[in-house]
Amino acid sequence: MRTLDDLLAEGVAGRRVLVRSDLNVPLADPATPAGLRTITDDNRVRASVPTISELADAGAKVVVCAHLGRPKGQVNPQFSLAPVAASLSAALGRPVVLASDTIGPGAQETVAALKDGEVALLENVRFEAGETKNDPAVSDGFAALADLYVDDAFGAVHRAHSSTAGVAERLPHAAGRLVLAELGVLRRLTDNPDRPYVVVLGGSKVSDKLGVIRSLLPKVDKLLIGGGMCFTFLAAQGHGVGGSLLEEDQIDTCRELLAESGDRIVLPVDVVVAADVTADAVTSVVGADAIPGGMKGLDVGPKTVALFADVLSNARTVFWNGPMGVFEVAPFAAGTLGVARAIAAVDGTTVVGGGDSAAAVKLLGLDPTSFTHISTGGGASLEFLEGRELPGITALEA
Ligand code: 3PG
Repeated sequence: MRTLDDLLAEGVAGRRVLVRSDLNVPLADPATPAGLRTITDDNRVRASVPTISELADAGAKVVVCAHLGRPKGQVNPQFSLAPVAASLSAALGRPVVLASDTIGPGAQETVAALKDGEVALLENVRFEAGETKNDPAVSDGFAALADLYVDDAFGAVHRAHSSTAGVAERLPHAAGRLVLAELGVLRRLTDNPDRPYVVVLGGSKVSDKLGVIRSLLPKVDKLLIGGGMCFTFLAAQGHGVGGSLLEEDQIDTCRELLAESGDRIVLPVDVVVAADVTADAVTSVVGADAIPGGMKGLDVGPKTVALFADVLSNARTVFWNGPMGVFEVAPFAAGTLGVARAIAAVDGTTVVGGGDSAAAVKLLGLDPTSFTHISTGGGASLEFLEGRELPGITALEA
């Protein structure tokens, strides 16, 4: 795979370089009628800076493109990249011109006016209906705006879209700094990880994680499961789960996975329950096999935190995706905090994947540098670990 270094060595001065970044940042909702929506976490913006800066410093005309949310092919001001342009400009310490459209006349004029070393940002690529279908006409539109293409959007490499796979087929291409850094760290997990290798999975939907559980099971020493998804596993063990999240159609699959896993899957032994998710909820801690009817399991309990911490204390490699409970609401934050602290204390490689886990690190006030790496890609990092083909990477390898 060609890299940014290869392009820089060949020289990019005066050349138009299209950079696909992942600038899909969380925004406060709703926008004020007059103002820009507020970015609540600019991590992805900051992670995109090195590639753009290096190209601009080398005299390229840098044309950045990215998606924001899922506007479904419609131009929608709620999903405009205007707040991102301001944030990117501040992070780069140089002006960023926002084009008025994605590949239309506005983008063409903006790119034509760029001088060497200047940076433009195209409007949300998902304002184009064909983007997420990898429509050849949209890919052609991107290709017409540049001479070279750099994919730095690690969080979107699992998408076969026009601004990822499509345009890479049409322009000389290379991987950017962030994509290379993320692949480098994640390969440490797939290629002969230091053992014990422990994976911690949480989050609400078990159906989203079954693929990754199935493919990780033969590779890990322990798989610790918390979060909303654990209740389908508890149900598969024959326990009642009260009003907790439950995907009934996945119970049989969870039962099979438990049978296959031997003792590698570790489930919660106690659970924090409440009638509802409120900041002033009356909570109690019950055994994972004794959730009362009508109560919802909303966090893992203290015995589970101690159990998971004990497993983690021996680990040499850890991957964590998904919170252990509803950490955004104070009474249900302790499980995620306790498990995150135990991961941070591991003497070895610790990788946090996924927006929710990264947000938990921030919200719970943990030191991000106490983890080896916090991935900018949620779905992308899971699909990488699952061993699935990532269309954005395949296109760069061609
Ligand atoms: C993400 O937020 O995980 C990436 O930016 C991909 O976004 P998507 O799931 O909307 O494709």
